Amino acid sequence: MPGTVIVGAQWGDEGKGKIVDLLAQNSDIVCRYQGGPNAGHTIVVGSETYKIRALPSGIVRGKPCVIGNGCVVDPEVLIAELDEFEIRGCSTEQVYVSGNAHLIMPWHLAIDQASERRLGKLAIGTTKRGIGPCYADKAMRLGIRVQDILDPKILRQKIEVALAEKNLWLTRVYESEPFDLEAVAAQYEGYAQRLRPYVADTSLYVETALRDGKDVLFEGAQATLLDLDHGTYPFVTSSNPVAAQAAVGLGIGPQRIDRVLGVSKAYVTRVGEGPFPSEIEGDEQARMRELGGEYGTVTGRERRCGWLDLVALRYAVRVNGIDELALTKLDVLSHFTELPVCVRYRTPDGRETPDFPAHQSDFHAAAPVFETLSGWNEPLDACSSVDDLPAAARDYVDFVERELGVGVSLVGTGAERTSVLSR
Ligand code: GDP
Ligand code: IMO
Ligand code: MG
Repeated sequence: MPGTVIVGAQWGDEGKGKIVDLLAQNSDIVCRYQGGPNAGHTIVVGSETYKIRALPSGIVRGKPCVIGNGCVVDPEVLIAELDEFEIRGCSTEQVYVSGNAHLIMPWHLAIDQASERRLGKLAIGTTKRGIGPCYADKAMRLGIRVQDILDPKILRQKIEVALAEKNLWLTRVYESEPFDLEAVAAQYEGYAQRLRPYVADTSLYVETALRDGKDVLFEGAQATLLDLDHGTYPFVTSSNPVAAQAAVGLGIGPQRIDRVLGVSKAYVTRVGEGPFPSEIEGDEQARMRELGGEYGTVTGRERRCGWLDLVALRYAVRVNGIDELALTKLDVLSHFTELPVCVRYRTPDGRETPDFPAHQSDFHAAAPVFETLSGWNEPLDACSSVDDLPAAARDYVDFVERELGVGVSLVGTGAERTSVLSR
């Protein structure tokens, strides 16, 4: 399939990086279409672990990698990652960064932190990497783009214009320190020198590759329920992870998307604040967290853990147009005797619905209706295909397929790159 989107179907950290790494083997290019270093994608190769924030996960397989116009780029993070991959023996020669992607500036980080502090109990629990303020400036037409680093004079001018406004905000609204124009200009000119060779017309590059029949992966960061339009607003990120954004965030036509692969854990996690109907109560949540190693890749924060939520997943199938699903971390469930799965929500009026509520108040008040499936209580290491799974594990996968009307084509049985079963 020439154009395949890999999209998170829950609240992030579903194991997208690992699935992209798997599919990258048989692909020609891997492209990120939104988000920035709020992402943390982990790939485990034997004794080596790669934690990737800015680059597409295809970098580990040595594939050409594109950072699309829909992304936001923190030059410091990107440069550190490029350096790291070079040191670890992965070439970065074929990394292409869209000139239309926006740069995360130091004031974006400062404002992200200050605004979270100010929100207090109402905080979103962002990654504090400047993502929201950077996308806000893009919409305000006050952003600085990657292509601005191609000309030192333009770069300095844009920093000056932005700073005039940002320093007012920082000092008067947030009572924070202002930034010094000369210092920021010098810092970013340094970054510019390192990054200039990577700036490219990525829309033309990707479109040409697709026209030539190449296989291209479109890698989503974050996930459906963190989507700015379709997620659990305001507890969302500031971009659109949903599959259709692959076209906008790379500058290609929507008909270039041939297949949408959703990635879901066999349970659910969420980092940061916001409603989470199937969240596990009591000590069992901590147990799931330990078993699954559920700590944020970027922030190290504890991830909240819940039972698989098929109402939310059904919604993800709808808003992304998911054709097939990768169900990751099934091995983590091997330790539970009973497996509740949320099949419907009960709304305050006593109604039960299989559909994700359209209104925030209904969602906030939704109670999960669980169906309990049996566990299998045995490791999955020895399985070599989905059909090899213990009967109860197969039933679990079949149940998900039946409820969603979508096939599960891949099942994750461990963190290691090779621990994936296919149909
Ligand atoms: P991403 O942001 O969607 O790429 O996911 P993360 O890398 O942030 O989080 C997924 C975590 O689960 C990482 O630590 C992976 O190494 C790990 N992982 C991925 N797939 C599996 C799996 O099938 N089983 C287990 N046990 N761990 C997995
Ligand atoms: P990957 O790509 C999980 C969450 C944050 C917060 C909200 C907004 O690894 O799946 P932001 O910094 O984006 O403004 O934070 O979104 N969040 C993620 N949660 N995985 C991610 O990325 C996330 N990126 C952002 O915790 O709740
Ligand atoms: Mg992650």
